[in-house]
Amino acid sequence: MELKKAAAERAVDFVKDGMKVGLGTGSTAYWAIKRLGERMKEEGLNIQTVATSKASEDQARELGIPLIPFAEMGRLDLTIDGADEVDGRLNLIKGGGGALLREKIVATNSRRLIIVVDESKIVHTLGKFPLPVEIVPFAHEWTFQALDQLGCRPQWRMNGEEKYVTDNGNYIADCLLGRISNAEGLNQKLNMIPGVVDNGLFVDLADTVVVSHSDGSIELKK
Ligand code: A5P
Repeated sequence: MELKKAAAERAVDFVKDGMKVGLGTGSTAYWAIKRLGERMKEEGLNIQTVATSKASEDQARELGIPLIPFAEMGRLDLTIDGADEVDGRLNLIKGGGGALLREKIVATNSRRLIIVVDESKIVHTLGKFPLPVEIVPFAHEWTFQALDQLGCRPQWRMNGEEKYVTDNGNYIADCLLGRISNAEGLNQKLNMIPGVVDNGLFVDLADTVVVSHSDGSIELKK
C-alpha cells in the first residue's frame, strides 16, 4: 500500500492549476485521487476531472473534486492511472479492476498518460497477468469460442455464481496467455473479433510511468 501511495502522490505533482484530468481506477489510482482532493484544499487547486469508473467517480464526488460528463470532456491534459503490468516499451496490461474500456477511452483522449505502479508490476514481457477482454453479452458464447480458437485460453471473470458485469454492462474474459510476444498484433487481432469491445492491452499510450521501489526511491520511466 505504501509503495502504491508513494508512486500515486508523485504523479499528482504533474497536475497544474486549470487542468482537465482523467482519474484512473484501482487501488493505486485511489491514492492519486485522494491526493488531488488534498491539493484542492491545501492550495486551492482548480481542476476538472473525468472518472474511468463508478468507484472513482464516487470517490471524487465525496472529496468535492469537480467531475465533467464524458460527452463534454473534450481533450484532457493529463490522466493518472494504475496498471497490472508494464514492459520496457511502456506497453501495459490493464483492466484487473474491470475498468479497461473507459480507461482506454480516457487515456486515448488525453495529451499525457501517467501510469503509477509499484515495482512488482514491471515485467520483461507482458502476459503473465491474465489479459482482460471486454465482451458484449449478445452471443458471448460465440465470442468466447473465437478467443479460444485464437489460443487465448479465456476464462470468464466471475462475481460469485454470476458472470462479472462491467460498468458498461458487458462481460470480461481473462486470457491466460503467459507470454505476449507481439502486443500490437494481439491488440488488433482481439479487437477484430465481432463481440469484443476492447481489451486490456495499452500499446503506445503511456507517456510516463512512475515506479516506486521498495528501497524508497521513485523512478520516472519515459
Ligand atoms: C482497473 O481496471 C485497472 O486497469 C487498474 O488500473 C489496474 O488493475 C491496477 O490496479 P491496482 O492499482 O489496484 O493494482
